[in-house]
Amino acid sequence: MYCVRNVTEDLYWVGANDHRLALFENAYPIPRGVTYNSYLLLDEKTVLFDTVDWSACRQLVENAQHVLNGRPLDYLVINHLEPDHAASIDEILLRWPEVTLISNEKAFMLMRQFGFHVDSHKIIEVNEGDTFSFGKHTVTFVFAPMVHWPEVMVTFDTTNGVLFSADAFGTFGALDGKLFADEVNFDRDWLDDARRYLTNIVGKYGPHIQLLLKKAGGILDQIKYICPLHGPVWREDLMYFIQKYDTWSRYAPEEQGVLIVYASMYGNTESAAQALAARLCDKGMTKVALYDVSSTNVSQLISETFKYSHLVLASVTYNLGIYPAMHNYLLDMKALNVQKRTVAIVENGSWACKSGDLMQKFLTEEMKDMTVLNERISMASSLGEDKEVELDILTDAILDSLNGKK
Ligand code: FEO
Repeated sequence: MYCVRNVTEDLYWVGANDHRLALFENAYPIPRGVTYNSYLLLDEKTVLFDTVDWSACRQLVENAQHVLNGRPLDYLVINHLEPDHAASIDEILLRWPEVTLISNEKAFMLMRQFGFHVDSHKIIEVNEGDTFSFGKHTVTFVFAPMVHWPEVMVTFDTTNGVLFSADAFGTFGALDGKLFADEVNFDRDWLDDARRYLTNIVGKYGPHIQLLLKKAGGILDQIKYICPLHGPVWREDLMYFIQKYDTWSRYAPEEQGVLIVYASMYGNTESAAQALAARLCDKGMTKVALYDVSSTNVSQLISETFKYSHLVLASVTYNLGIYPAMHNYLLDMKALNVQKRTVAIVENGSWACKSGDLMQKFLTEEMKDMTVLNERISMASSLGEDKEVELDILTDAILDSLNGKK
């Protein structure tokens, strides 16, 4: 059965929801599913903007056939070549062999690398700033390299203000009937997944997102709809989400608050982390989130790291090093360019306690603009009551830092 929605009077969402995929990119858990958005414009010419993952190809074809209602498909615009959007290109070419492909040089190179049969079809290679008319609608192609792959471009319909934004402004989560961000409680139900999507998938490329935002800045008043490749379409309160993207891509914290991540083998390091969390809350800082590094997917930790201004890393020593799951989290932070955070360290070791020095070295030598507080708690096996003063000192140091006193 077809499953389509109108975006505007002549633009249709013809994508698909996916609840079967457990791991996006075979790496990131998506318990709420994901959507692959594809859009079909009915103008004097008919135009499909991007395709979907291979698993959703049948739904795309059914949707497109329904909307076309016997008309030919004239153009296929490809903004992003990653297979979660591009895998169905060959099927579209088989079903509508007269279609003309519109994309850029790098994207066509990648299509050939992936084995798509584009060279037996008409193609139009566009450059930055080129315009193209489909009849009533004229579009401009704007390149957005590394948001998320090098070939990425976004397409702006100057006739109705629709921005086809590729991965930018996407989120995890299946739409399940809804289409627009104003049809859901985005801040309550979607923001965490939007941040987890952006920070893990494109977090490394903050400066490239900033470049795209700068290009969009010149036409902000003309953008009426943002149509990303995943998640809801935006037609109201666009600045809410644009500002979130600006914050995340500048690596600026969204909240003044404390993220505590602990690595604990038998509960003693966890106990110290809990005691610190309670003291912070007792003194009025209740924006505290606490996670066990061993049982929390690292993509969630990364999202929370982008959210909060202050981190507490509490780790047991393991094989004279950092506990492996904590080390993996640190490596992911570095890979995703996390920076500009203040960090407090809690270390544990029953003999040869090393994790604190090693975490500090990683934070200061391997990452950018990370401030490590001098007040550190070192414990041997467990945090005894003799450490109460040190715990209070660390609590106050974190609060002073949050309040800008140090
Ligand atoms: Fe949703 Fe970079 O693909």
